[in-house]
Parts: sequence; C-alpha cells; structure tokens
Amino acid sequence: MSGAGWDAVLAMRDGGAVPAGELGRLFGPLFAAPRGADGCVVVGRLAQTLDGRIATVSGSSQWIGGAGDILHTHRLRALCDAVLVGAGTVRADDPRLTTRECEGPNPVRVVLDPRRRLSVEYGVFRGGPPTLLVVAEDGPERHGAAEVVRVPMAGAELDLAAVLRMLAGRGLRRVFVEGGGVTVSRFLAAGCLDRLHVTVAPVLLGSGIPAFTLPEAARIADGLRFSWTVHDISPDVLLDIALDRARPGVCA
Ligand SMILES: NC(=O)c1ccc[n+]([C@@H]2O[C@H](COP(=O)([O-])OP(=O)(O)OC[C@H]3O[C@@H](n4cnc5c(N)ncnc54)[C@H](OP(=O)(O)O)[C@@H]3O)[C@@H](O)[C@H]2O)c1
Repeated sequence: MSGAGWDAVLAMRDGGAVPAGELGRLFGPLFAAPRGADGCVVVGRLAQTLDGRIATVSGSSQWIGGAGDILHTHRLRALCDAVLVGAGTVRADDPRLTTRECEGPNPVRVVLDPRRRLSVEYGVFRGGPPTLLVVAEDGPERHGAAEVVRVPMAGAELDLAAVLRMLAGRGLRRVFVEGGGVTVSRFLAAGCLDRLHVTVAPVLLGSGIPAFTLPEAARIADGLRFSWTVHDISPDVLLDIALDRARPGVCA
C-alpha cells in the first residue's frame, strides 16, 4: 500500500497525527473518538472467499487470504488494545493472536466462551500475553493462565455492550474482533462495530463456514447497504467499511 510507512501509523498509538496516504486512510479511523456509549472503537475483520466462506466445513481456514491479508491482520493486532475471538476459532485454529508480522505490541487476548467449554489445553490459556476468558456462568477465576471475566447474557447470547464496557473499564478501548463468522456477525447484529475490514480472496469453495449470518431478510431492501473503500492487497482485495455502529434492519 502506498503512502506513509508503518512507523508513522504505529505512532498514532502514542498520540501521533493520522499520516497521509493509504495506510493513514485505512487505519486512521481506529483512532477517532468512540461513538458508542461503551467507550470503545471496534473493528471487525474476516477473510472470505468470493462465495462468502471463511473456512471449509471441517474448519480449515489457513489460508484463505494471501500474505497481504496476514500482514493486515497483524497490523490490526499491533494497533488495537485487545484482540477478540469466539470459542469456535480457538477450537479450530488454536491461534496465538500475537503480533509477529510487523513491529508493534501484542494486544490483550479475549475469548468469548459463555459456557466455558474450551479446555485449558489451548495456547491462549497456557502463557504468552494476557488473556481474558469471557464467560456467562459462575466458576473459578482462572482458566489456566487466563483471567476469567463474567458478563451477563442478553437472551441467548452474551451481552456484547457489557463485554465492551468491561474492556473499556480496563483501558482496552480499541478492540479488534478477529473472528470467526458467528462472532463478527453477532457484533454486527448488536450494532457494536465501527469499522469492518473484509478481505475477499479469488477463491470459490462452494461450501464451508459462512462469513456473515443474520436473521432472514425477506427483501433485498432489508439488507444493510453501505459504501466501502477498496484497497489492493494483491491477489486479494481489502474492503474497508464504515459501519459507524449501524444495525441491520433485520436485527432491530
Ligand atoms: N477466514 C477468517 O477470517 C477466519 C477468522 C477467524 C476464524 N476463522 C475460522 O472460522 C471458524 C470459526 O468460526 P465460527 O463462526 O464457527 O465460530 P466463532 O465465531 O469463532 O465462535 C463462535 C462461538 O463463540 C461463542 N460466542 C461468540 N460470540 C458470542 C456471543 N455474542 N454470545 C455467546 N457466545 C458467543 C459461542 O460459543 P458456544 O457455542 O460454545 O457458546 C459461539 O458458538 C474456524 O474454522 C476458523 O478457522 C476464519
């Protein structure tokens, strides 16, 4: 991508100005004042095939995107205070969620596992940067090396506004929702996303785990329509979407 270098982008963490150029336009909005009452700026991200899949049916997703998408993901980790994933991603990928492909700090790792079904054997619970395990039920305060945080349910799902308030209360105000599809979709449905970064790779699977799942829309007009900025991360494209906490009409 053209424009300012990564150093100038990373300096925004320390109060630096938004640099000119493509990287500044892409990442600058993450440093805007929070819109949500929870006090967080939240960016969701997925890498999907042309037909909207983020993994095969068996859960294999490495790698849908190319090197540019992997670098982009690590840049988001470096710029955000917290990286958040759903239990399904930990189960399928056992990810480290650390910053390795670029300069920058590791974010605090946050795992949503309301019924505490993940064993302590996964890497995020065994050491490395701090991890918060978000659950809905009472129980022990530690899960391996992770701190357990209890957050109420809102109906059948975790109260994501409460999750964000909890993170903001710990000073974790720039939040990167890294996946998977269920988790990003629930943040979208709850009106909890400021930005959405979607990488589309030139791959057709014809089957697999969907990127976005929302309640059924009866008409095209019921869909959430937005504008996007397209960035070339050949061979993929990266779509930067300003959701500004919009909620799909079918979720109202
Ligand atoms: N291509 C990509 O960009 C990408 C990124 C990440 C992951 N992946 C792939 O995606 C797959 C996993 O994605 P996924 O969509 O199946 O699962 P996921 O989003 O990783 O995890 C979903 C699970 O997290 C818990 N959860 C998340 N949000 C919740 C909420 N608001 N309330 C309550 N529980 C919540 C629930 O756990 P319980 O059901 O246990 O209650 C839910 O079933 C894996 O195959 C992984 O490799 C791909």
